[in-house]
Amino acid sequence: MFAQNFLKFVVLLLFLIVANLTENRELRMPQADTVFQSRSDGISAEGVRDQYADGKAAKVWEIFIGDKKSRTENYRNFLVEKLRENGVRRILDVACGTGVDSIMLLEEGFEVVSIDASDKMLKYALKERWNRRKEPSFDKWVIEEANWLTLYDDIKHLLNGGFDAVMCLGNSFAHLLDNFGDQREQIQAIRNFEKCVKPGGLLLIDHRNYDNIMDTGATPAKCIYYNSSHTTDIKTSVLYVASKPTLVTLDYQISTGNDVSEFRLSYYPHKLRVFEEILRTIFRGTKSHEIYGDFKPLTGVSNPAFYIHVVKKASS
Ligand SMILES: C[S@@+](CC[C@H](N)C(=O)[O-])C[C@H]1O[C@@H](n2cnc3c(N)ncnc32)[C@H](O)[C@@H]1O
Repeated sequence: MFAQNFLKFVVLLLFLIVANLTENRELRMPQADTVFQSRSDGISAEGVRDQYADGKAAKVWEIFIGDKKSRTENYRNFLVEKLRENGVRRILDVACGTGVDSIMLLEEGFEVVSIDASDKMLKYALKERWNRRKEPSFDKWVIEEANWLTLYDDIKHLLNGGFDAVMCLGNSFAHLLDNFGDQREQIQAIRNFEKCVKPGGLLLIDHRNYDNIMDTGATPAKCIYYNSSHTTDIKTSVLYVASKPTLVTLDYQISTGNDVSEFRLSYYPHKLRVFEEILRTIFRGTKSHEIYGDFKPLTGVSNPAFYIHVVKKASS
């Protein structure tokens, strides 16, 4: 009798041990993921999230921005004049996307290096480069995948003493979110941009008028970068964390013939004065920081959709 009970006890004990082990493993498995720490900012799980990775926005991007030539007409003269009057020849486009602005600058005779973190977007730039490879400027066009958090290391081999101008246009920079609540990654990215500009060179960078988006809760559908007649709707959501606007999500709906394409992009709502201060701190000693509204002097536009900063790095 004692032996029988003892055996039952041992079987029960074994059962409990096995059940406990299984349960712990089930608990431990997902936890193993959450404690994973990458050793590099470039690993997407911890660093840059490619919002274009599903290919949806990339696929309709060219339709969204409308005819390339008429899009760039909005600011081609401004940009080309600004670059030429500052003696710029070699440009780094750090958010080339499908390549619209880089192509415009190549056609204007500049030497261009283009980078982007999204291979889905770069695919279209690479295709254009291939199609026009017989034109010498396109043959020399360098396109690489890189991200802003590691930019300086990613493209060190292409620096040659720094670029005459670095540009981050087309509503791109705000894609870098504030993951730590203190803007450290945005500061790190702009530091990298600054390191890529040669002394006396320029940084051109833009952001939407988030001050106005915060005030109104809406995003103007028509703007300098997107003039496609297909754009149907942009829905704006704003996330506040501890009373501070932290994330703006835009849900785009674009009709292309019978199809409706939908994609979502998220942005950090940069306030003009805060952004200006970050640039001033990083470009210490700069003699020139100009701010334009929709590529016009601020005095000429009352409520611009975009602010464009042109900062000149101090000559050493
Ligand atoms: C709104 S698109 C603009 C592209 C192009 N400048 C234009 O105007 O058509 C923004 C681009 O920024 C790129 N991007 C976002 N975060 C990035 C990062 N951390 N490093 C490099 N590129 C990034 C995206 O992959 C995307 O192609």
